[in-house]
Formats: sequence, C-alpha cells, structure tokens
Amino acid sequence: MIAHQIRPSAGALRLQSEGAFVALTRARELEAQGRDVIHLGIGEPDFATPEHIKDAAKAALDRNATHYTPSAGITPLRDEIAAFAARFRGMTPFSRDEVVVSPGLKPLIWNVMTALLDPGDEVIYADPAYPSYASCSAYLQANAVPIPLLEAKNFRLDLDMLAAKMSSRTKVLILNSPHNPTGGVLTRSDLETIAELALRHDVTVISDEIYSQNIYDGEFLSIATLEGMRERTIILDGFSKAYAMTGWRLGYGIMPATIAKMVALVGQNTYSCTTTFVQEAGIDALHGPQEAVHDMVAQFRARRDAIVAGLNSLPGITCKIPDGAFYAFPNVGAITHDDRKLASFILEEALVAVLGGSCFGDAGKGYLRFSYANSLDAIATAIERMRATLPKFVA
Ligand SMILES: Cc1ncc(COP(=O)(O)O)c(C=O)c1O
Repeated sequence: MIAHQIRPSAGALRLQSEGAFVALTRARELEAQGRDVIHLGIGEPDFATPEHIKDAAKAALDRNATHYTPSAGITPLRDEIAAFAARFRGMTPFSRDEVVVSPGLKPLIWNVMTALLDPGDEVIYADPAYPSYASCSAYLQANAVPIPLLEAKNFRLDLDMLAAKMSSRTKVLILNSPHNPTGGVLTRSDLETIAELALRHDVTVISDEIYSQNIYDGEFLSIATLEGMRERTIILDGFSKAYAMTGWRLGYGIMPATIAKMVALVGQNTYSCTTTFVQEAGIDALHGPQEAVHDMVAQFRARRDAIVAGLNSLPGITCKIPDGAFYAFPNVGAITHDDRKLASFILEEALVAVLGGSCFGDAGKGYLRFSYANSLDAIATAIERMRATLPKFVA
C-alpha cells in the first residue's frame, strides 16, 4: 500500500504565522523549565476582566444562555453596540442591522476581507501592521500594497506615498489607529486627507479601531465621522483590549447593512455564532460602569512613560513616545538590523519576551516591539536585565 501524505492547499501554504504567538510558545517552554520570563511580547492587558462583566457571564450561564444564536449576534448586544459605538465616536446611532458580532476581532478581519476581496483586487495597508491583514490578503490572492510607516513621521502614514499608490484600482484601504505595533495615532488632518483620497478613488475603508480606548493624548477620532465616510467605512472594534477580555473572544464590526449580511454569512459558514454567555457579558461591559477601563488606560500611560524612558537609557536603543495602544517600537538599528535574532537573544538570555519588528512586515526591520501590558516593577526589571545582557549580543 502506498503511504498517504496529506497535502495542504496552496492557500493554506500562503498563510503566515503571528510572531506574538510563536514567541509566547517559546516563553512558555522556558517557563516550563522553571525560568522566570517577563512577558512584554503578546499584546494583551495583564489586568483581570472587571468583576461585573464576569458576574454577568456567570449569571448568563446560570440562565442557560448556552444555545446557538443568530450569526450576527444576539439582538440586545447588537443594540448596545450600535448605541455605544456611535456615542463613543460622536455619531448618530447605528442600527442593529449594521452590527456584526464575532468571536474576537481577528475572525471578523478575516470575514470582512473575505466578503470584500477577490483575487487580484488591490488592498492597501501600512507596513508594519497587524499580521492578519497580510496573511488574509495572501490567502485571498488579493494584490497587497503595503505603505511603509516612517519613524520620522512618528509612525503615521506617509500621505504623499499613499496618494501616489492609491488609484481607481484600489478596492480597500485598511487603517489601524491607534496602531499595532508602533503605537502611532493618525491626526485629524491625516484622516481628512485619507478620506479625501478614499472619496476621490471610491475606496472602501476598513478601520481597525480595537485600540480606540487606549489613547493617551487627545481624543480618539474615527475616519467614519468625516463627511461622506460613514457609508464607505467598516469600523472594527472589540472587547479584548479595552475590557481586558482577550481570552473571552468577543469583537464586533459596524458596516452598511447589506455588507453586514455578507460578513455574517461568512461567519455562519465557519463558526456559526459567538459564544452565547460571552455575548451576554458583552452587554454589561458596554452598559455598565466604565471606570475600570479608564483606570487601565491611566496605568498604561504610566507604564508607557516608564518603558520609553527605560529603553532610551539603553545604549544603542532609541524610542519615540507612542500616543496610543500599549506598544513601544524602539529603533535598534545601531545594535543590529536582524531584529528577530535580537528578540530571540533577549528572550533566551535576558528572559524578556519581546518581538522583532519585522514580524509585522519588512518596514519593521531594525525595530523591536515591546507590549507594556505588564507591571511597572516587571518593566523596570526587564530594562535592567536587558542592560546587563545586551552588551553580550553578537550581531
Ligand atoms: C490591530 C489589531 N486588530 C485586531 C486584533 C485582534 O483582536 P482580538 O483579540 O479581539 O481577536 C488585534 C490583537 O492584537 C490587533 O492588535
């Protein structure tokens, strides 16, 4: 009998892994050997989910909220999201038909891109960027056009380059502000120029606003609020970062009702629906007190200041002050351009989990990403461990 070898599809072979999860696996292996790793790798708040949200999930379980739901989500949660998301952005309320709930935001990025992009369609996004955009574009055989983010512009989009690349061939532009992995935040004037380009070239904007509550200077501004943009913007947001609910898996999107139906259909064909009692808890997260969110943001701000000062005190490292999200993206080019080798060295030798900037695209080469979702003590220890270890790095 011929031995059978199961062969993956060409599409599956085009998928990329996410550096954060690869580094987490290695960090956990070191921990299993009894080593004390400081986690500044994966992008998740270290805080516990607020008690009233956990209580709501427990009560929902006790009410047996454990059955399938409509693929777009339960009506009370969609109504709550429609009201909250509009209030938060200063917009007139959305309707529930414009809301799609998902098990975390990541699957919704996939579903939205699947609903919009055919092979050969052009999609523009920043480089570096959250890896899902590139991986999903590759899977769908879309024509991806990454636009480098420049440190000199505080990791905002180079609008001249964007204007040069955007054309009537562009179907989708993906924005992410505040930005993973750099912490950059687009200004009102940036967004106005981008909106003008989107209108001129008739482009749909996917605006990944998962860090919209993690902003340290000024107010969050969604491109959807600008004139003519509401009907061409798909807002993506979720509970993972603002409410410390990464493991619950709960996200949402807001988009015109016709496309919402398509996006929900993609979800129906994969996961059917989002966990029922998690959706119930989501209502309380949005409806209940928001003090815990504000408190977490205040703590993130103090951690940001501590890590940026610490990184700038290390020879060969320079770090800009990020305005949002919870990432610092220092330049390590004076030490090496092989950021992945350096990240691996820091994990193995200093026992600090960080990511190479190139995990987020070619333009991240020569940078590291630090997630400062850890205590001030852990950040201080991590800096001292790196101060002691970095001189031993051989480029
Ligand atoms: C920019 C961005 N979008 C989406 C996600 C996915 O969020 P979730 O954990 O809800 O799937 C992340 C998570 O790191 C992110 O950084």
